[in-house]
Amino acid sequence: MLRYPGWLLGYLWWLLKGCYAVARVFLVDARVLLGVAVKIPTVSFSASEQNTTALKEFDQLLRRVFPKIFSSSLVQHEMVGNYSHLLTVPGSEPDLEPYMLLAHIDVVPADEADGWDAPPFSAQELNGFIYGRGTIDNKQSVMGILQALEYLLEQGYTPRRSFYIGLGHDEEISGPQGAVNIVKLLKSRGVKLLYVLDEGLTIMDGVVDGLIGPGALIGVSEKGQATVKLSVSTPPGHSSMPPRESSIGILASAVTRLEKNRMPNLFGHGPERATFEHLAHKFGWPYRMVMSNLWLFSSLVLEGQPDTNAFVRTTTAVTMFNSGVKINVMPAYAEAFVNFRIHSSQTLQEVLKLIKSTISDERVKVEFVSGFDPLPISSYDEDTFGYQIIKKTVHDIFPEVTVSPGICVGNTDSRHYTELSPDIYRFAPSWYKPGDSARFHGVNERISIQNYEEIVLFYFQLMQNSDIRNLPGPRT
Ligand SMILES: *[C@@H]1O[C@H](CO)[C@@H](O)[C@H](O)[C@H]1NC(C)=O
Ligand SMILES: *[C@@H]1O[C@H](CO)[C@@H](O)[C@H](O)[C@H]1NC(C)=O
Ligand SMILES: [Zn+2]
Repeated sequence: MLRYPGWLLGYLWWLLKGCYAVARVFLVDARVLLGVAVKIPTVSFSASEQNTTALKEFDQLLRRVFPKIFSSSLVQHEMVGNYSHLLTVPGSEPDLEPYMLLAHIDVVPADEADGWDAPPFSAQELNGFIYGRGTIDNKQSVMGILQALEYLLEQGYTPRRSFYIGLGHDEEISGPQGAVNIVKLLKSRGVKLLYVLDEGLTIMDGVVDGLIGPGALIGVSEKGQATVKLSVSTPPGHSSMPPRESSIGILASAVTRLEKNRMPNLFGHGPERATFEHLAHKFGWPYRMVMSNLWLFSSLVLEGQPDTNAFVRTTTAVTMFNSGVKINVMPAYAEAFVNFRIHSSQTLQEVLKLIKSTISDERVKVEFVSGFDPLPISSYDEDTFGYQIIKKTVHDIFPEVTVSPGICVGNTDSRHYTELSPDIYRFAPSWYKPGDSARFHGVNERISIQNYEEIVLFYFQLMQNSDIRNLPGPRT
């Protein structure tokens, strides 16, 4: 029998404890730095107004707190669109196709008076959570990715596979300067990407009825959008002799027809079907039976809840309605704006046609304001490098989590990257628990300290996992 002397075991134990302590110190620092990042109010107020003072300050912060990244001869750093960052980390094996990690620096506005438990730009810690705008959207990824790279560089690491990091400064106003210009620059250099990972879906825990245990949903596509303006013009007149129908009445009926006649349920035609098929075995009885035959039950299970309804159809949201100038004057004009989020199996053109046929009233003018088709569906099969590497990394850090493809109902900077890569994924390992949906762009956005540490470790592990040449195992 092999015997180890006590001193050797003691020494190994001491070493192990030492490593653990180093890791702890490193992560304690990391969480402090996330707090500092959250305190800088990098707010996108509107399409034309951002806090550029804060954006400049944020740039200074990154240079100060990640000295290895910004002094390394390995890492190339460029500012794009004035405030966005592009980092290039060349690998030692240039024949390996590079990948790219994305995150965004800007945040939506936040007002403490809306009922925050801690001021939204304070990064105050309460019961193990860091509170503040940007803690889950999306400074946890900005700081998590850079922290992971800083730590790898400290250890003298050089990747084998090249990678890029893109940090946009205007994602919340759809990325016209940041993401769009980063993509232009990479295209001009002939870059093709093996995969792209951006923010998007999360680890869902206890938010899907009947699902046993947490599920990580990797976004393989995003819904499209259409915004239309509806308007009605009628001759003005006095309210003492009103016509049978006012412009407000005509428009209200049109809007009501759109709300009552929802867009068709398309469950089974898009990747949401794969989500439930991958997760079916994790549902308890009787949900398991229902989930395994979901195409039969989809209207029962999925249509009731606003968030699951969004997965099965193009949604209709009437967001603005304006008319009238005076209490005794018939309004000559009424207008409304309706925002649609387009299901993966429909196109923008199809949705516009359906809108017109549903309204079916010549007096209502329908104008297209803006929109785009749903994003292409990235592959998620056994041979897909990006998807499998992300999945493996989730399992490395969260062994208890089931991984499944999913659909993002919102949009991200990554939608500008489709010409650079067919495989774009939207996921960050933030835990999403009951009540958390109200925190995105809402009140009391927060992240647990433990979750932020997991996020840093996730990117740390992902960069190393992406270094393998091919996926292991027999492949055809
Ligand atoms: C913009 O950011 C700076 C800090 O960088 C802050 O002092 C200022 O109050 C912010 N402005 C607005 C309008 O929020
Ligand atoms: C960068 O800032 C300058 C002025 O500070 C402005 O003229 C220019 O349009 C900006 N460029 C971009 C890409 O936003
Ligand atoms: Zn975001």
